Amino acid sequence: MTTAPTRRHSVGTAHTRVEGRDKVTGAARYASEIPFEQLAHGWLVLSTVARGRITSVEDTSVLAMPGVVAVLHHGNAPRVDTDYTGLLGTAPDPTAALFQHDRVPHTGWPVALVVADTSEQAREAAEALVVHYEQEPHDVDFTSEHPDAHPLDSHLPAVAEKGDLEAELAASAVVVDAEYTTPEEHHNPMEPHAAAARWDGGRLDVVDSNQGTLWVASELANLFSLDPASVRVRSEHVGGGFGSKGLRAHQVAAVMAATVLQRPVRVVMTRRQMFSLAGYRSPTRQRLRLGADADGRLRALEHRCLSLTSTVHEFVEPGAGPARTMYDADAHHTANHVVRLDVPTPTWMRAPGEAPGSFALESALDELAGKLGIDPIELRVRNEPALGPVSGLPFSGRNLLACFREGARRFGWADRDPRPGLRRDGRWLLGSGTAAASFPAGAAPSTATVTAEADGTFTVRINAADIGTGARTALTLVAADALETAPERVRVRIGDSDLGPAFIAGGSMGTRSWSWAVTVAAEELRERLALGAAVPPEGITVRSDTTEAVGALARKERHSFGAQFAEVAVDVDTGEVRVRRMFGIFAAGRIVNPLTARGQFVGGMTWGISMALHEEAVRDAGTGGHYGADLAGYHVAAHADVPLVEADWIDDPDPDDPVGIKGIGEIGIVGAAAAIANAVWHATGVRHRHLPIRPDRVL
Ligand code: MOS
Repeated sequence: MTTAPTRRHSVGTAHTRVEGRDKVTGAARYASEIPFEQLAHGWLVLSTVARGRITSVEDTSVLAMPGVVAVLHHGNAPRVDTDYTGLLGTAPDPTAALFQHDRVPHTGWPVALVVADTSEQAREAAEALVVHYEQEPHDVDFTSEHPDAHPLDSHLPAVAEKGDLEAELAASAVVVDAEYTTPEEHHNPMEPHAAAARWDGGRLDVVDSNQGTLWVASELANLFSLDPASVRVRSEHVGGGFGSKGLRAHQVAAVMAATVLQRPVRVVMTRRQMFSLAGYRSPTRQRLRLGADADGRLRALEHRCLSLTSTVHEFVEPGAGPARTMYDADAHHTANHVVRLDVPTPTWMRAPGEAPGSFALESALDELAGKLGIDPIELRVRNEPALGPVSGLPFSGRNLLACFREGARRFGWADRDPRPGLRRDGRWLLGSGTAAASFPAGAAPSTATVTAEADGTFTVRINAADIGTGARTALTLVAADALETAPERVRVRIGDSDLGPAFIAGGSMGTRSWSWAVTVAAEELRERLALGAAVPPEGITVRSDTTEAVGALARKERHSFGAQFAEVAVDVDTGEVRVRRMFGIFAAGRIVNPLTARGQFVGGMTWGISMALHEEAVRDAGTGGHYGADLAGYHVAAHADVPLVEADWIDDPDPDDPVGIKGIGEIGIVGAAAAIANAVWHATGVRHRHLPIRPDRVL
């Protein structure tokens, strides 16, 4: 580190959101609320068939409807360029390359945009638009065998193998061999995807709800062959993203229509449209084979994960990933495979890979512990690796066992009778379970500027995204400490592609990456001021770019870790599972704002309850679409489902980060479903390997 250690007064201190008052009073405006003069409204029309071709779009009668100004479809839409690799190193998802051809690869594929003077007129006309298709047979069945499932060429190695798996399994005293499944799951951020686009003096100006404005801006510049400097994307407040808010059909639709009409156009997805346009988590089928000596030491570990993708784009849910970090074995085989079906392309959803992968892996560890007669925590102690099991790299810090020790103490694990099916409270069977959690702790290059204003305040400018996490507040605290000033004297401007390059809110890397850039600029500014620099009327601005510093990080296994504990009650008459309490404890770097950090952890754990017991998108084989694609049909945990959920952390500053941050956005959900499933086994003596653990599966 080039920077001197800073005295910390604000980092580590609970602080309410700096924009909290604006949010609760309605002063904070979200993308679909920002007014534009002459605004027109676009309504997307989605395919009702799962595979085939569009033969005609009957737009004439719709164009005559009140207020309708345009109907865009493959026959008349502007052409876009899809032959590029985006900022994140991936080709554009063809779902966002709207209206370029007549092929339909899944139900819910965007086939037209109806634009009208009001949102109501657009909706009515969109619902009246008749589209004719030539239908082809489709396949959306993930449960059947698919011999063409193939290893992938993604950024993660599809297959990692060392040792002779069959020989080690044969030599093992105890073997667990089981298949686990998780269903299709959807992010459903509270605020639906929304974008408004307009041309403003030769520049494209887009107001959007996303996880990275520069990401979306660069995709739009590529698609529409525009000079990147002529595209501005703003996203000041975001009501949740969870991986779903990157480049999506709505931004492209808005830009196309604004370009054709030379008038501002807004496109908002409905909740139902989000089920096919916003991405989702693929269902998984996972095979685990674990072989151990009688003392619990792993000889063999095999984790194979099958997920699905669409026929037009490849996305892999890498469920076998966590095993590469968590446990070593003489034979260690992991593989992520994917099958192509006539469905929308899945995407990143909070803890992609880790969330479903940890359910299978941490359930299998629990099964192994049961078979061996070894306490599940002790089994993990005996298999704690010294180096990354697949990478062979040292860990930058691995406080997993410290989490288990502290968690066990606070949860009351020592009193637990390991035998299943013994505890009763009236008609309820009671049990408790635990699971490990981990998530990569990375940093990515970012730039920031910090300005000392003439009035003695400071302005931080960084193209960060606060998707509801509290990032804006965290950055305020980080800047205040680096400047050795009070947070009240610091204002932070984010969410605008004109602010320059900075990483997205993703991969649990946002706050860490941005804080690094803010710290470097703020410390340099503080030093200049300390040397007596006089502040002119325009202020003094220092700019930072962490590209070099981040690139110079030594190669290590960099992860956050955690331990999840759950206590459940199972109704023997109805099969209902109630979580009575959960406790999660994390080693996830320095915690910047305990208030919002607790919210992140508890939010992730709550999602784990939802994943374990409720969430499941059900696809209809006949239409290729969903049953109940809304928040009535897609069941998420409600307040009454979430009892005492507590989260805490141990001191675990990252030695290679200027602030000590690792990142906390995703680890809260990891292992949570396994801890609950393991508790259900402890309550009932029955192992549940298929999520969600619905009453009909329990009975
Ligand atoms: Mo997250 S799934 O990296 O937005």
